[in-house]
Order: sequence, then C-alpha cells, then structure tokens
Amino acid sequence: MSFEAVSLEGRVAIVTGAGVGMGAATARLLAARGAKVVVSDINPETGEATTEQILSDGGEACFIKCDVADEGQVEALVARTVETFGKLDCAVNNAAITPDTLPIAEADMEVWDRVIAVDLRGVMLCMKYEIRQMLAQGNGGSVVNISSVSGVRPQPNNSAYVAAKHGVIGLTKAGSLENAPHNIRVNAVLPGAIDTPMLRAALEANNFTEAEFAPQLSLFSRFGKPEEVAEASAWLCSDASSYVTGHSMALEAGYLTR
Ligand SMILES: NC(=O)c1ccc[n+]([C@@H]2O[C@H](COP(=O)([O-])OP(=O)(O)OC[C@H]3O[C@@H](n4cnc5c(N)ncnc54)[C@H](O)[C@@H]3O)[C@@H](O)[C@H]2O)c1
Repeated sequence: MSFEAVSLEGRVAIVTGAGVGMGAATARLLAARGAKVVVSDINPETGEATTEQILSDGGEACFIKCDVADEGQVEALVARTVETFGKLDCAVNNAAITPDTLPIAEADMEVWDRVIAVDLRGVMLCMKYEIRQMLAQGNGGSVVNISSVSGVRPQPNNSAYVAAKHGVIGLTKAGSLENAPHNIRVNAVLPGAIDTPMLRAALEANNFTEAEFAPQLSLFSRFGKPEEVAEASAWLCSDASSYVTGHSMALEAGYLTR
C-alpha cells in the first residue's frame, strides 16, 4: 500500500454532461489529476469549450457528442473512447435534465418519459456499455453515477426526477453486486444544492433568491460549488477508494441530517 496523493495518472475516464456545471468541473478535475478525459455532452458547443479548457490547462481530453438516452450513441461513445485512448478505466455518469414541475395528478407524461429516458435509462445505458468494456479489459474499473439528495428525500412537483434519482441509487447497488467479483466498483454521488446552470434555472422558475433558498438546503446557508462535488467523484474514480462500492455519498452540507 502506498500513500501517494490521489492520482489518476494513466487512467482513461468518460464524463457525461460535461459541457457545463458539475460535469465540466469533474472533467477538469479528473484531467488535472492525470486522467485522459472524454468530455461528452449532447451540446457540442459547451462540450468543445470544456475540452479546450482542459487542453489549455495542459491536460489530455477529447470531445465526443452523445445523447445518453440513445443506446446507439452510448455504445458509440464507449467504442470511440477505446479507439481514441485505448481503454476505459472510470466513468462519471452525470448528464441529467429537470423539466418536470407538475404534481403527479397533473403530470405531463411526455415530459415524464423524457426525464426518465435521460436521467435513469441514460445512466443504465452508460453503465451497460462502460461495464461491458471494463469486463472485457479484465482490470477492474470504477463507475460513479450522479444521483441527488432527491434520490433519498423527495421534493413535491418533481416526480420524474425523484423517481429517476431513486432509480440511479438502485442501479448503483445492483451494479456493485454484479461486478464486485470483477473489481469493478459502482458508487453514487448525491449532490445537494450546487451552483450550476441547472440550479439557477430552478431558482428562476420558482422565483427564489439564493439568500432565501440556500438556508433551507444547506447547514452552511450557501450553495455548493461544482468543484466541491467533483472532488468526491475523483476520489471514487481513484484507487484511494478501493474498498468502497455500492455506496451513496452525499455532498449536501448536512441537508439530510435535518
Ligand atoms: N445542481 C444541483 O443542485 C444538483 C443537485 C443534485 C443533483 N444534481 C445532479 O448533478 C448532475 C449535474 O447537474 P448540473 O447541475 O451540473 O446540471 P446542468 O444542467 O448544469 O448540466 C447538465 C449537462 O448535461 C447535459 N445534458 C443534458 N441532457 C443530456 C443528454 N441527453 N445527453 C448528454 N448530455 C446531456 C447538458 O447539456 C449539460 O451540459 C445531474 O445528474 C443532476 O441531476 C444537480
């Protein structure tokens, strides 16, 4: 056992939804720790921008466009990752959307289906092809699924998101059970209120300010920074977390303790 700082030197990682917010911060941190990073997003403009940023910081990265809800695109994402960087060691399944705002009795099922397609099926598809690749390599691996505090504590008028994020925790546990014999670890990260475009859109939709909202969601009365969550994903990707699997790690400034 060595006591070197958390390093991802020589590792190849995929981060989905890496154009903005937590995905972008995670991709940048993994690259800064030495990983070759596939920056993936449905939006090529922001995805390319994150990639440029990593390259100008001296890291290694490439952009691959992918809608995580589309099986063919997810399969191609993993195949192109291996073509580009030779293998896949770790993945952060981060992409998600939050357009549902109605109570269950008034739910728009088209919106519901799209949220489930991206936030739950998208994570399942990524796991399917990432784990398949890791199994073929035979050297273990680490998968990090981004759930949410909504995955354990629901909010009203958000049923698709809540169901998807609960489901991501279930998929994480199932993936950890199936793949522990192959040393492929599968963990979930549960962010609280983190200052990203997603949270800013929710504030605007509900007409809240940060000063009103943050004290309800954080014992520190502030929103988290994307980088504060990225640290957990980087740790879970690394060998420093070698005895951790099936775990749900909350980064929520004590929100769930109340
Ligand atoms: N911000 C928060 O407070 C918060 C809290 C809890 C959990 N989360 C979770 O953290 C993760 C990141 O959230 P964020 O706040 O950075 O979100 P964000 O909306 O700011 O960014 C999400 C990124 O995902 C991309 N994306 C959307 N649909 C996609 C698709 N179908 N395929 C590929 N990419 C797609 C977007 O283009 C965007 O770049 C999400 O899983 C989210 O549910 C966020």
